[in-house]
Amino acid sequence: MRDHEGSTDSQFFEGRLPFGNAAGSALATLLFRAGGVNLMDDQDSQSEISEAIFLLAHKPNTMNSRREFLKRMSAAALVGGATPSMLTWALPQRPVVEVAGEDGMILRSFRFVDLESPVEYFDTWLTPVPHFFVRNHMHEPSELEASDWRLSLGGEVEKPITLSLAELSKMETHSVVNTLECAGNGRSLHRPQVPGVQWGKGAVGTARFSGPRLRDVLHRAGVKPAGKHVMFRGLDEVPGKVPPFIRSIPIEKALDADTLIATQMNGSPLTKHHGFPARALVPGWIGAASCKWLTEIKILDAEFVGNFMSPAYRWPNQPVKPGDAVKPEDTHPLTALTVKSVIAGPSDGVNLKAGKVAVQGAAWAGEADIVKVEISADGGATWTAAKLGHDHAPYAWRLWSYDWKPGKAGDFIIQSRATDSQGRTQPATAVWNPSGYLYNAVDQVKIHVS
Ligand code: MTE
Repeated sequence: MRDHEGSTDSQFFEGRLPFGNAAGSALATLLFRAGGVNLMDDQDSQSEISEAIFLLAHKPNTMNSRREFLKRMSAAALVGGATPSMLTWALPQRPVVEVAGEDGMILRSFRFVDLESPVEYFDTWLTPVPHFFVRNHMHEPSELEASDWRLSLGGEVEKPITLSLAELSKMETHSVVNTLECAGNGRSLHRPQVPGVQWGKGAVGTARFSGPRLRDVLHRAGVKPAGKHVMFRGLDEVPGKVPPFIRSIPIEKALDADTLIATQMNGSPLTKHHGFPARALVPGWIGAASCKWLTEIKILDAEFVGNFMSPAYRWPNQPVKPGDAVKPEDTHPLTALTVKSVIAGPSDGVNLKAGKVAVQGAAWAGEADIVKVEISADGGATWTAAKLGHDHAPYAWRLWSYDWKPGKAGDFIIQSRATDSQGRTQPATAVWNPSGYLYNAVDQVKIHVS
């Protein structure tokens, strides 16, 4: 199934890695379930199944090449018989799948690694890397040696250059605490529903990214006056018909002092899931702008033309009636994130004892700052300001908390609503769009107080 972001990932397999694994545990375990689709009729599902079987049989961190992967796949097929019979035993028995170091994460797609953070994890200003969502449109690079890696810079420049990781590491380092959110975060909440990875609320996280400024690297090559857009290409392994993950950003954002070629996340080298050894970091913008496994930068005289710039990651120029189609020429590329808050606790559906209830969560607004978060416990009739956490930085979310004392027992809907420095406030209903981007309606949980 091809979604609006142009990738072939699917929501067919979903699951949850169990909480509570000791930090540093090499592997976490995942139970998965298959959605209600006829798996055997669908080409993409067939390959997801193969991948699922691979994950069942082998630890991903022991895979070092795609050739090795294929070898192991045929070995697995020999052990288990034909793919259909493996599936028959695989699905009903809820097999155990191992994903290295990703404890408690929600698996949104098997074929390519797509992991969502449970909202309960939004209780620290910096998201620990194992709890940080992962969004891949295709396979992660299977062979990537830091010593072999090179970054080339060409196009509309005076002098094309190539940098090794050692050379990049010698450049002045800058750090930015950035809330990275996938444009598709919350897609499952749009009505009517739209195809694509059915993210809940957790395709977002905050980390301190460090590395040289992109503009310092661009200056080394010397951008010609014709250079208006900066294209990034990653080292993803492109399966079959899927177009490569290539996007561009305007030169103004590329030259911003906070736009980085990040090599570190929360003080450690990037992990493979997050783009080792280097990724673009375009703060405040949709996650898709921050290309992982960066290998090529090209200065262009116009926006890059390709699937991940159009039709993917675009927003309608005019309001759209929910359910209506929009022509690509009536859309523009998504850039900065919008204003949003999410309730991390109490969890939706919990039963609480009467007394003080700690309502808490996170709020962010892309390039703008959060100025207030308000909480309602009476269906939106009255709102009270939450306390904003002391940690803050441009582009970073703000944690917030509110001590709520329910006066009586019963069922309650707790809502949170953020307002930012651009005067934007979360709407009661998110703006529907055909690809289900930028869901940002007032958040809510339903709880029972006894
Ligand atoms: N870069 C490459 N090369 N390939 C990808 O699939 N996914 C993008 C972006 N960079 C992607 C990529 C998207 S859609 C998002 S939301 C972010 O990476 C997610 O970053 P993370 O996986 O580090 O959380």
